[in-house]
Amino acid sequence: MNVTLNVNNVDYTVPVSDGSMPLLWVIRDLIGLTGTKYGCGIEVCGACTVMVDGQPEHSCVMDVTSAVGRKITTIEGLSSDRSHPAQKAWIDQQVPQCGFCQPGMLMSVACAIKAGRHGNEIVNEVKNLCVCGTYSRIRKACSKL
Ligand code: FES
Ligand code: FES
Repeated sequence: MNVTLNVNNVDYTVPVSDGSMPLLWVIRDLIGLTGTKYGCGIEVCGACTVMVDGQPEHSCVMDVTSAVGRKITTIEGLSSDRSHPAQKAWIDQQVPQCGFCQPGMLMSVACAIKAGRHGNEIVNEVKNLCVCGTYSRIRKACSKL
């Protein structure tokens, strides 16, 4: 079956084996946007977080059919020039270490900002895991937001 997804304001029509294919596989393997990462596959780590209609979603467990007709934003669509406030704060604080968790982390932070959160509210809301332990820099970056 074919599905059409709106990702970063572009419509992509892609063939999926069945409607329960995780959104993450479609974004990465069929659309080719590999910024969104696979970590745990069980909604624990947050590496796969994307924005769907302004809300954070774990794309590793979201059926692709649930995403049809909705506005999906991935790390590639957050800004074209690293100008999103979260990206600027991340660059100022040099947050990433290996970087693997960071796309999902930034998308969760971007959703919290969109929901009107600031500073510690963002830190308290974002539950993404970072194996490298960059949490102190994340807290500093969020304190500027
Ligand atoms: S890969 Fe989706 S929450 Fe970890
Ligand atoms: S920067 Fe390496 S897992 Fe977070």
